[in-house]
Amino acid sequence: MRTQVAIIGGGPSGLLLSQLLHKRGIASVVLERRSRDYVLGRIRAGILEAGFVNLMREAGVAERMDQECIIHDGTTFSCGEEEFSIDFRRHAGTPVVVYGQTEVTRDLYDATEQDPGRVITEADEVMPHDLDTDKPYVTFVKDGLTQRLDCDYVAGCDGFHGVSRKQIPDSVRREYEKTYPFGWLGILSETPPVHDELIYANSEQGFALCSLRNEHLSRYYVQCPLTDRPEDWSDDRFWEELKRRIPSRHAANLVTGPSIEKSIAPLRSFVCEPMRWGRLFLCGDAAHIVPPTGAKGLNTAASDIHYLYHALLQFYEEKDGEGLERYSEKALARVWKAERFSWWMTSLLHRFPDQSGFDLRIQRTELAFLQDNDAAQKVLAENYVGLPY
Ligand code: APR
Ligand code: PHB
Repeated sequence: MRTQVAIIGGGPSGLLLSQLLHKRGIASVVLERRSRDYVLGRIRAGILEAGFVNLMREAGVAERMDQECIIHDGTTFSCGEEEFSIDFRRHAGTPVVVYGQTEVTRDLYDATEQDPGRVITEADEVMPHDLDTDKPYVTFVKDGLTQRLDCDYVAGCDGFHGVSRKQIPDSVRREYEKTYPFGWLGILSETPPVHDELIYANSEQGFALCSLRNEHLSRYYVQCPLTDRPEDWSDDRFWEELKRRIPSRHAANLVTGPSIEKSIAPLRSFVCEPMRWGRLFLCGDAAHIVPPTGAKGLNTAASDIHYLYHALLQFYEEKDGEGLERYSEKALARVWKAERFSWWMTSLLHRFPDQSGFDLRIQRTELAFLQDNDAAQKVLAENYVGLPY
């Protein structure tokens, strides 16, 4: 088998890159370890920056998103009973789009049905080879048969636990990591959202987030100890704890119901440098992880895909390798800004076990300054809606 771009990983990063390349006549093959249904079964965030929306439109897969998404002009922050809203349109000139990552991934998989060979699911033992030569290739096992895919370039879109990042030699690869001493317990419930904006809540009991997927499907999170397990939290316990952490006027309006999904995720900041080695280009979670507080995971994967897509266009259409040479430098510049914002939002809103009385006062003052200062709100809004590519 031969293609121009071999893409390891059929999550949103790999699928979006493949679809964009396909629209410009550049051949790719996506090798995904899991089944399509398994990939679509993952519950992930749902806040899209304008840059991501534009890429989906350029990829020709935005029709359902444009019909079903919800536009949010701002978001609400609360500290105990205090609350305030930050107006994205006023401060940053654009809203954000609420549309679940699962739906994004579904739209991208649906688009591949016109050319079924482009995505190979349930591909085992995927392994890139000769990345430091001009003839890289990828091997994989499908239905018990070992196959070889020759290519010009390999996009490592295989997430944090994939094989691609580790192909960069230890002597070249630098990894930066910060772990957080708590997790997020999240539930999905078929209930109407509690508010017309997301609520990011700082409370004495810890962080909480009120989000949604649509007007009939809500997504809630509470900060919890890393030692907790989902089975430690009954639905009743979850709802009571959420009500304690959000302003009472919202708690009074909260429509509770059975959870249809319940899980705990740890929080981590992680960056791998460089994001390119020879003919290998890392994109998305394969190269970086952010705590979900700033809703930057999928949106930072999107800017990687933007840079790599345009670099590949420049190479194949103009025979100019400059974009490929600069890919890592350009992608990392924006990755680190997303890391900073996600770390800052996490530091602002969570209770840390080692916080002193002074630390708590500083955190509360930071929120009060954000509430009262237009410039501070503008900085948050510009980061939340997405810094320019
Ligand atoms: N071979 C083939 N596929 C693999 C391998 C492998 N060795 N390892 C992992 N994969 C697949 C996974 O099954 C997954 O479908 O790669 C895909 C990676 O997808 P994601 O982990 O979703 O990463 P990405 O596409 O970069 O999307 C980033 O996902 O985790 C969230 O918060 C993150 O929203 C962000 C988004
Ligand atoms: C979500 O809806 O899952 C979500 C929204 C905003 C965040 C994190 C998660 O910051």
